[in-house]
Amino acid sequence: MSILVLNGPNLSRLGKREPEVYGSRTLDDINRELAEAFPDILFEFFQSEDEGALLEKLFHIEDKGGYGGVVLNAGALTHYSIALRDAISAITIPVVEVHLSNIYAREEFRHKSVISAVCMGVISGFGANSYHLGVRAVLALAE
Ligand code: DQA
Repeated sequence: MSILVLNGPNLSRLGKREPEVYGSRTLDDINRELAEAFPDILFEFFQSEDEGALLEKLFHIEDKGGYGGVVLNAGALTHYSIALRDAISAITIPVVEVHLSNIYAREEFRHKSVISAVCMGVISGFGANSYHLGVRAVLALAE
């Protein structure tokens, strides 16, 4: 099974960006550890600062087929991107929303996710492990 691990704006800066909030691992570290933890999964990793590129990636994998799910950390787009929400609604592949930090324990503007309602579920606050739990959620959905 293929799983897309999709990361939005500013997640390219992990490791350097606010390590007290997001931890010291880089996105490459996180992706490598995922591939090691789930050797039977064919991962595709994609990150972009650009909302449109994320939408295009979702439509591309939908059309290509063969993907069991998407583990999505949309970064700040989580809180305001109706375009991303509509794109998730427009595809049939299940999407699991993940966040490194606990968005509900942070600033009020982070408490609202405009994408949660169209995702299968949300995992927030477990650092890099949120991605691992996200992969487990996709695998459980596929069973
Ligand atoms: C984040 C939380 C968002 O509020 C923030 O804008 C991010 C990262 C997280 O992984 O904790 O960029 O999605």
